[in-house]
Amino acid sequence: MELTPELRAQMTEIIGRYPNSRSALMPLLHLAQSIDDEVTPEAMETIAGVLGLTTAEVAAVATFYTMYKRKPVGKHHIGVCTNSLCALLGGDAVYDAVAERLGAGHNETDVDGTFWLERIECQAACTHAPVMTVDWEFMDNQTPSSAVDIIDRLARGEVVQSTRGPVIRDFQATEHTLAFPVDGLAGEGGEADAIMLAGLTYAREHGMSAPAAPGGDA
Ligand code: FES
Repeated sequence: MELTPELRAQMTEIIGRYPNSRSALMPLLHLAQSIDDEVTPEAMETIAGVLGLTTAEVAAVATFYTMYKRKPVGKHHIGVCTNSLCALLGGDAVYDAVAERLGAGHNETDVDGTFWLERIECQAACTHAPVMTVDWEFMDNQTPSSAVDIIDRLARGEVVQSTRGPVIRDFQATEHTLAFPVDGLAGEGGEADAIMLAGLTYAREHGMSAPAAPGGDA
């Protein structure tokens, strides 16, 4: 990751959001992945230099959080949730089918390095389990065959729409959004449906509300 004037300006913009510059570390790591599809040792050194941290401090964060990769992800990150509810509804079968299609296991890429496969934890999307993510966009209610079909369509370069988000771009584009969240795409992909709102609907119908937070206004 070469520290060009343009990159320095982007980093300065991100750092300016926070009262302490070191708070910008995580979005800067996402910015690095938007450039290289991984966090390289060079990127860690660059970020450390700009933030006034040691490379070890940057590496400690980059190696702790699983969204930061230290090998090239490729064009698309594929996550399959196999946490409790997704597993009960077939998440492991979805994972197995995708793994067989890609010839890859957990945190591995397919043979040509296009798709990265990862067994992921709960995405708080359990209402539409089993859930797969493509570049962190949701693909709800998957089956083994529907998940493989999505991989096939992406491999052919077809347009693939998230079931509750925008058209799939690629991993690096998503990483850029994680560094610069205002991308104009927040309104795409529809709104919360009745299943997602079932708890809230029930609460309203029965006059239920959450207790006030200690010391809070509501
Ligand atoms: S268990 Fe898979 S999204 Fe919650």
